Amino acid sequence: MDGRDLVRSVKAVGSTGAAQGWRTVRAAWRRRRVDASGLVPRGAERARVPGPVLDVEPGPGGGLVRFTRSELRITVAVNGAVFWGWDGAGPEPSYALAGRSPGPDPRAVLEPDKDGAWRVVSERVTVVVSRNGAVEVRTPGGVTLRRDLPPRWWEPVGEGPARWMQRSEVAADARFFGLGGRASGPRLRDGAYRLWNTDPGLSFGPGDDPLYITMPVQMVVADAATHLVFHDSTWDGTVTLREGEEGAGSGHDRAGTSELRMDGGPLRCWVMVGTPERVLRTWTSLTGAAALPPTWALGHHHARWGFGSEQEVRRIVAGYLERGLPLDAVHLDIDHFDAHQVFTVDRERFPKLPMLAKELRRDGIRLVSIVDPAVKAEPGNAVYDSGSAVDAFVRDSARRPVRGVVWPGESVYPDFTRARVRLWWGELYKERLAQGFAGFWHDMNEPVSFAAFGENTLPRSARHDLEGRGGDHREAHNVYALCMARAGYEGLRELTPGERPFMFSRSGWAGMQRYGGTWSGDVATGWPGLRASLSLVVGLGLCGVPYSGPDVGGFDGSPSPELYLRWFQLGAYLPLFRTHASLRAGRREPWEFGEEILEHARVALVERRRLLPYFVTLAHLAHRTGAPYVRPVWWGAPEDRALRDCDDTFLLGDCLLVAPVLDPSTDRRAVQLPRGCWYDTVTEECYEGPAQVLVDAPLSRIPVLARAGAVVPVRGADGGLELEVWAPAPGRTGGGLVVPDTGDGWDEPEVERYVTRWEGQRVVVERDGEDGPGEPSRPVRVRGLGGL
Ligand code: NOJ
Repeated sequence: MDGRDLVRSVKAVGSTGAAQGWRTVRAAWRRRRVDASGLVPRGAERARVPGPVLDVEPGPGGGLVRFTRSELRITVAVNGAVFWGWDGAGPEPSYALAGRSPGPDPRAVLEPDKDGAWRVVSERVTVVVSRNGAVEVRTPGGVTLRRDLPPRWWEPVGEGPARWMQRSEVAADARFFGLGGRASGPRLRDGAYRLWNTDPGLSFGPGDDPLYITMPVQMVVADAATHLVFHDSTWDGTVTLREGEEGAGSGHDRAGTSELRMDGGPLRCWVMVGTPERVLRTWTSLTGAAALPPTWALGHHHARWGFGSEQEVRRIVAGYLERGLPLDAVHLDIDHFDAHQVFTVDRERFPKLPMLAKELRRDGIRLVSIVDPAVKAEPGNAVYDSGSAVDAFVRDSARRPVRGVVWPGESVYPDFTRARVRLWWGELYKERLAQGFAGFWHDMNEPVSFAAFGENTLPRSARHDLEGRGGDHREAHNVYALCMARAGYEGLRELTPGERPFMFSRSGWAGMQRYGGTWSGDVATGWPGLRASLSLVVGLGLCGVPYSGPDVGGFDGSPSPELYLRWFQLGAYLPLFRTHASLRAGRREPWEFGEEILEHARVALVERRRLLPYFVTLAHLAHRTGAPYVRPVWWGAPEDRALRDCDDTFLLGDCLLVAPVLDPSTDRRAVQLPRGCWYDTVTEECYEGPAQVLVDAPLSRIPVLARAGAVVPVRGADGGLELEVWAPAPGRTGGGLVVPDTGDGWDEPEVERYVTRWEGQRVVVERDGEDGPGEPSRPVRVRGLGGL
């Protein structure tokens, strides 16, 4: 037991009693025992590499390249992505893909290259397979973006999966991003990143890795182009990254490297090349459009572990209403359950939940419920009984239900990798809907079993259905939460077909955006935690998960008023804007930090509400194109190296650049600007990029800059949609997209396109229509005229 394990077990004991503490010790021993008998020891292994090429078999979109000890299938798909798989691996089955794999692009063919190599040429990428199995990804102009050396496998002489390793080189100037939710990014510096979804047990900061969402998805940004590579294997693994270095003067360049080691699964990958925008469009065309949150979910949420009673919820809500502070959702944590059991209500402390929900709804506030996967293993518990009746729970290799320890005590775990179990689970949300809940917050779904030592999840030998193929937890672990999200989402679609489900999940995997978003988990209260929470949002967006946000104020402890406010100001510009904290943490209501903080928090809340139409537009664009709301500053200029290294500023859509304050005692900060003119949205002062500029950041606000020429949809004083137009730079034009809000159903409104230009001394705004430009039907307010 190391120090961290000790703290973890103490935490479990402290929060749930001494008996629980002993149960966690027992559970850990039990898991060890189960693994010892349920997993075949690896024993001796044989190493293998592909060997020399033998022959090829051209096929649609590419073909098969045979080597003496393996074969490589390579296909360019119609959406422009390239797939390759070793040892006969094809793109299906896959938990990441949204449906069937896209068909082959018939224009791409396998043809001979130099030195016995073979290549596939397509519109956006050329892939060259060397005669010993190295695979090179090149731009159409012939610049190498990535070079995979021949892979290596280690196969057990007896039974068991083959481990494998793939070493790749990238350009010396390349920067790595992605790999799911990482606390120390968004630029991923040299180090090892594990691919195993993990509850860190305690609140985390920038040094903690891995966290709840890991994904074998790398976005690599280099001068020549951006590419995304996805290794479609759900097994445990580690990616070791090392950035390259460019030789100064006559020195040689050192390539960047990525070394991926996986404990199993097929060695197969997808690669897409282009601009960041194009790459994410292709990625989401593969893995699915991001769920569109209902409009209210783009407002402000207030959560708390430990409201403890309906009266307390009412008191908090009244606090917001009396002070005229916008509030759109209240989240109830596990303390509203009966004895911590999911899909139940503590009737003593929450006797009239449906009534409370109705009352809140009248004030425009929705109730969101936490949903944990673990089910108390106790006959008589309705969820346990109905689950047992459909054989829903994960079993061990001897067919005994696997038990773990979570909040309700000894628990069993639904096997969400089985279709029938997902169906059963999805129907359970009926009870939540009857209680008046409008949204769902999936938690503890790595999945967690409290552990006194070792890993705090299910035994690796636990058996899973894996859609009928059968396998163990080593393969199912990373997709457990993804499958839970699918169960919830599909259940809600059946139960409330007219409404878009709102769901976000702590854990997940590639493709999770199909069902909803996520939040940053238990981020530690402190300035490093604030920084980490931004890293997670940006990084997840680059993996195709656009909707997320942190626990404003941090999960534990008590933030200083200044830290709370800076977190609040950042949160107001992130897709999920939620205050939340742990049972024992200090208060998080905006009025708990003194008058001055309250007034500044009010400004942030009011501005968030004013920007709601912009958030609605960004949500639709994320859904349609894969472009995240929150984008790194290099999004439109990946060739700008200073921007690639900038971790503390982000673009909110195309129009705004947000420079949060991430350090104490700041009243001015440096901001790295992309090309163009940028207006400080408060002073209207104009700054010219590319440049690093110093911008005022008084306690009352964080710097938010608007791109010259931008058209930002905002909420006018009467609640209607208005266009806030930022004057284009002299002699320049601008424009923007607006997607109007059409409610919480499934309508997909038309995108309105606006253009802005100068006409003499006047800024003109026109709507681009089929019959040419026309007058906008929305009120227009031009800003920035004085700043030029
Ligand atoms: C862990 C979650 O990360 C946190 O947000 C929640 O409050 C607790 N579980 C209790 O449910």
